[in-house]
Amino acid sequence: MLMSSYKKTAVSVASAACVCLLLLLLVAVQHHRAQVGDAPAAGGDAGARSLLQDAARGGERTKKGFSAYFTKLTRGRREVERPAGSPATGTDPPPAEDISAEDIFIAVKTTKKFHQSRLSLLLDTWISRNMQQTYIFTDGEDVELKKKIGSHAINTNCSAAHSRQALSCKMAVEYDKFIESGKKWFCHVDDDNYVNVRTLVKHLSQYPHTQDMYIGKPSLDRPIEATERLGDNKMKPVNFWFATGGAGFCVSRGLALKMSPWASGGHFMNTAEKIRLPDDCTVGYIIESVLGVPLTRSNLFHSHLENLQQVSRSEIHKQITLSYGMFENKSNIINFKGAFPVEEDPSRFRSVHCLLHPDTPWCPPQVAF
Ligand SMILES: *[C@@H]1O[C@H](CO)[C@@H](O)[C@H](O)[C@H]1NC(C)=O
Ligand SMILES: *[C@@H]1O[C@H](CO)[C@@H](O)[C@H](O)[C@H]1NC(C)=O
Repeated sequence: MLMSSYKKTAVSVASAACVCLLLLLLVAVQHHRAQVGDAPAAGGDAGARSLLQDAARGGERTKKGFSAYFTKLTRGRREVERPAGSPATGTDPPPAEDISAEDIFIAVKTTKKFHQSRLSLLLDTWISRNMQQTYIFTDGEDVELKKKIGSHAINTNCSAAHSRQALSCKMAVEYDKFIESGKKWFCHVDDDNYVNVRTLVKHLSQYPHTQDMYIGKPSLDRPIEATERLGDNKMKPVNFWFATGGAGFCVSRGLALKMSPWASGGHFMNTAEKIRLPDDCTVGYIIESVLGVPLTRSNLFHSHLENLQQVSRSEIHKQITLSYGMFENKSNIINFKGAFPVEEDPSRFRSVHCLLHPDTPWCPPQVAF
C-alpha cells in the first residue's frame, strides 16, 4: 500500500521533472533556431509539440542529453552561487521592515491530478501551520481540499494540461489574487516545495516591500536568450535572468504593482505569448527585461533541478524552500537521517517538518535522530 503510493508519486514526480527539462531544452532549441535566423513566425505550438515528440522518440540520445544538461545546470548553479554569497552564512543583517507571516501571500501551483500525491503532503506539513497566508491554485474542484483550506483553494479554471498556456494562465490568476489581497510580498512555489515560512519571513524582512525586489534562484548559468515578437513579423532578441519557478521566488508589492500593465487581468498570458516561454521565464522577462529590475539571487531556494544532497542536515533549518524529485531512477532528495525512513517518507518532507517543528502531534516523541 505504502510502496504503491510511493511508486505512483515517484512516477508523477519523474514525469513532471521530464516536462521541465523538456521545456528548458525547448528554450535552448528555440534559441538556437532564432540564432540561425529561421525561427518560424507562426506555428510555435506545432513546433513545440513535434519537438516534444522528437525528444520522446530520441530515446538514449535524449536521455544522455538530459543527463549532460542536468550536470551543466548543477555546475552552473555552483559557479553562480559563489560570488552571490548567502545571508544565511554570515551574521544576519538588521531587518529593514518588521513583517510577519501574515504579510506574505504564498501561492502554491498545483493540478487536480496531484491533489492526493503531492498536495496532501504539503497540507500535512508546512501548510498546516500557515493556512492564513497560503493559497492553492489548481484547475479542478475538490470538495476535500475545500474542507481543508476553504476559500484558499482557488480553481483557476485554467486547463489541466502542462502546457505553456495553462501554466501562464495560473500565474495570471496568482498575480491578480495577490494584488487583491493587499499583502506585502508575493511568493510563488510549486506543489513539490517545502516552505520554511520562518526563514522566509526573516529573509524578506531585510528589504522594504515598497522597493523593487525580485528574489529567487536561477537554474541556468547565464541569462536566457529569447525572441520578443513585436508584430508585423518583426522580432527582437532579449536576454534576461529569471528565477526558476520550481525553486520558488518572491516579488515585493512595490514591484508587483509596476508589473501590472504586463501582468494583470489577462495581460500576463499575452506577454507570455509574445516571448513564447513558460510562466517563470515570463515573470523574469517582465521584471528584468521590461522594467529593468535585476534578480536578487538567493541560495536558500531549492528546486528538484539541482542536486539536493548538497543541502546538509545542519543547514536544513536555514533554507527557505526545499524540493524532491526523481531523475533517471535515482531519487533526488535531501539526504539525512530523519524521524522517518525513506520508505515511509520518500520526499523527506515529513522528516524535515519534524526537525523544524518537533512539537507536531504526529512526529515521533523526542528520539535522537
Ligand atoms: C472559475 O469559474 C467559476 C464558475 O464559473 C467561478 O465562480 C470562479 O470565480 C472562476 N475562478 C476564477 C479564478 O476566475
Ligand atoms: C528504472 O527502474 C525500473 C523499475 O525499477 C526498471 O525497470 C528500469 O529498467 C530502470 N531504468 C533505468 C534507466 O535504470
